[in-house]
Amino acid sequence: MSSPNRRVAQLRELLRRYNREYHELDAPSVPDAEYDRLFHELEELEAANPGLKTLDSPTQRVGGRPLTAFEPVRHAVPMLSIRTETDFGPGGAANFDARVRRELGLPSHLSVEYAAELKFDGLAISLRYESGVLVRAATRGDGETGEDVTHNIRTIDQIPLCLAGQAPAVLEVRGEVYMRRDAFDALNARQRELGEKTFVNPRNAAAGAVRQLDFKIAAKRPLSFFAYGLGEVVDWDIPLTHSGMLDALAAFGLPVCPDREVTRGAAGLIDFHDSIAAKRDKLPFDIDGVVYKVNDRALQTQLGFVSREPRWAVAHKYPAQEMLTTVEAINVQVGRTGTITPVARLAPVFVGGVTVTNATLHNIDRIRQLDVRVGDTVIVRRAGDVIPEVVDVVMDRRPLREESVDLLETRQVPQYEPFEMPTSCPVCGSHVVREEGEAAYRCTGGLVCTAQRKQALLHFASRRAMDIEGLGDKLVDQLVDVGLVRTPADIYRLGILKLAELDRMAAKSASNLLAGIDKSRNTTLARFIFALGIRNVGETTAKDLARHFGKLDGLIEAASREDESAALSVLQSVPDIGPVVAHSIRDFLREPHNVEVIEQLRANGVSWPEFEPSEVVPAGPLLGKTLVITGTLPTLSRDEAKALIEAAGGKAAGSVSKKTDYLVAGEAAGSKLDKAQELGVPILDEAALLALLAKQPE
Ligand code: IVH
Repeated sequence: MSSPNRRVAQLRELLRRYNREYHELDAPSVPDAEYDRLFHELEELEAANPGLKTLDSPTQRVGGRPLTAFEPVRHAVPMLSIRTETDFGPGGAANFDARVRRELGLPSHLSVEYAAELKFDGLAISLRYESGVLVRAATRGDGETGEDVTHNIRTIDQIPLCLAGQAPAVLEVRGEVYMRRDAFDALNARQRELGEKTFVNPRNAAAGAVRQLDFKIAAKRPLSFFAYGLGEVVDWDIPLTHSGMLDALAAFGLPVCPDREVTRGAAGLIDFHDSIAAKRDKLPFDIDGVVYKVNDRALQTQLGFVSREPRWAVAHKYPAQEMLTTVEAINVQVGRTGTITPVARLAPVFVGGVTVTNATLHNIDRIRQLDVRVGDTVIVRRAGDVIPEVVDVVMDRRPLREESVDLLETRQVPQYEPFEMPTSCPVCGSHVVREEGEAAYRCTGGLVCTAQRKQALLHFASRRAMDIEGLGDKLVDQLVDVGLVRTPADIYRLGILKLAELDRMAAKSASNLLAGIDKSRNTTLARFIFALGIRNVGETTAKDLARHFGKLDGLIEAASREDESAALSVLQSVPDIGPVVAHSIRDFLREPHNVEVIEQLRANGVSWPEFEPSEVVPAGPLLGKTLVITGTLPTLSRDEAKALIEAAGGKAAGSVSKKTDYLVAGEAAGSKLDKAQELGVPILDEAALLALLAKQPE
C-alpha cells in the first residue's frame, strides 16, 4: 500500500477503536485532544486524496453503535451535534458571527442576538415527558437510535419524574447528564478504598453510571443534569427564543444552568467566553467550552443545517485540560516533614493553557494503581491552578519485549520496569520509612536532611508564618548550600557582609532582605507557633494554641511535662485539639534541639505580645461560634472574611459538620452548601455576616 493509503487505514482503525472505547465502553484510553488530532489528520488526508474516501470512514459517522444490552430507542427528532470552533481565541467567536451574518444576508449595521451558555462535559440525554410524566430517557447513540436508560436516569434526584404546571402532550427535553467534581472525587476515593478501578474524569464516571445495567449501582454515583434543548414537542407553543424556551423548561421544574446570557454580536460572545474562562475552575463541574446559539428560533429555522450540524450553533472550546505525553523519568521530592513525593518528569506538553514538564504522582500506592513506568505514554491533567497530575497510562503504547521462559518458550513482557521507591533519601542518604497506616514514605533525616531543612525554612519565612519579605526558594537554596543558614535562628544572625558574599546578591537586595528580616522580628504568638512547622499544626491550630496559652513558655511547659498523659490531657483541653495533634506538639517541644532554636530566636530579637491565659479569651459577637466560608463573596476576600470572624471571637473552619454554627456562602458555592443544607446549618450571605458582626456580644 502507498503511504497515504496505509496512514488512512491506520487512522481509521485507531479512530474506530477510540470511538468504541468512548461511546460503548465509557473507558477512553486517550484524551479528547488526541482523538481530535487524529480525526483532523484523517479529514485532511481524505480531502487531499478524494479517492480514499469511504462511506464507513469515522469522518462520516457520529457517535457509537448502541449497546445491545439496552433496548434501542429511535429518536423522533435526531440528536444532533454541533460544530466546534478550533480557534481558542476571540477569532473563534468572530468566525461564527461572521458566518451567521453572511448566511442571513444581514447588513453591517444590524447585529445578531445570541444565547450563550456553557458546554457541559458529560453525556447527551433525551428525556421524554408525555402529559408531564417522564416515560423514557435515552442516550444519543448514533444520533438516530440511542439506548433506553430510563431506569438509571430515574435515580437522578434533579430530574423531575413529573413536570410542574401545565405540561404539553409530548415534551422531549435534551440536555447533559454530568457528575459534579466533588461527587467524582468522593466516588474515586471510594473506588480506591474498595480496591476497584478509578475513573479518569467526571465525564467517564457519569457515562459509566448512566450505562450501568444495574440501576442500584447507578444510584450510588450521584449525577446531575442540565437541560439545553428540545426534541419532539406536541401541543406546546414553544417560546420564540432559545433563552425563553430554557426559562420555560426551568418553570417546568427542569434544571437549567444559571450561567447563561443573552448577548449581541461577536463582542458580546467574546465577553461571555472571557467571563466564563475566568471562573471555569470555580465551577463545581467540568466544562470544555461555551456554546453560542442564535437566540431567535425563526432565524434558526432560516439558517437550517449542514449535514448533521445546525448552522445556528457552535461550540467555542477552551484549551484542553488533558493531553498525552511521555514519562522521561520518575524522581522523588522531599517535603518539609520528610514526606517523599514521586514526581513524573515529562516531555513538555501544552495543557490547561501552560507548558507542563512535571506532574505529581502523589504516592507509591497511586503509582502502583496506575502502573506508571518510565517510558510510558500518559494522560496529564491540569485544571486551573491545581498542580498537574498523571491520571492514566495508555497501556497499549507500552512496547512489549520477548523474554525467554526456558529454552523453548518465550513470553511477551512490558519493556519498561516498574518504579521502586528509593530505600534511602536521595538528598541526605538517611533511611526512608513508611509508617504504618500512612500512604507516604518519609525521610528519617529530620533537619539533617537539607531538603527538609530548606522546606522548613521556606515555611518559616512564608507569608502566613513569619512573613519575611524577599526570602524565597532560590535564596534559601543558596543560604543552606553555602552553610550560612542551618536553622531558622541563623536567619536572624545574617549580616550585610555575609550576604554580600553570595552570588548575584547585590548590595541593594541584601539590605532589602535584612530589612525584611528585621520587620519580621515583631510578630504574633500564633504566627510564631505556625512558623515552627510542627507536624499537624496548621494555622488554625496555631491560633487555638496561642489563644489558649497566651504565652509560649506556658505551652512549652505544658507540652514537655514528664508525665505524658498529663501533658497530653492539658494539650487536649484546647478546643479542637485531639490526640494526634497533641502527640505531635509534645514530640516537637520535648526535642532539646527545637527548644534551643526557639531560645535563639528570642535571643535574636524575635518577639510577640504575650497575655495571661485568662486575658486572652476574646469577647465578640461570634464568641465560641464556628463558621465555614464557601464560594466567592461579593466584596470580601476569603482572608478578609476569616480575619473579621476571628476578630469577633469566632472560628473559621474548613469543613461543614454538625458543629458548624453558620455557613457563609457566596457565588458558586459547592458541596459545602449542600452539606450545610442537609445538616440544617444556618446559611448567611455576606450582608448577613456583616450584620452579625455588627451586633453587640451577648
Ligand atoms: S446543543 C442542535 N448545548 O455537546 C444542538 N450541546 O456536539 C445540540 N453539549 O454531545 C446540542 N453542552 O451533549 C448543546 N449547552 C449545550 C451543550 C451541548 C454540552 C454537548 C452535547 C453534544 C455536544 C455537541
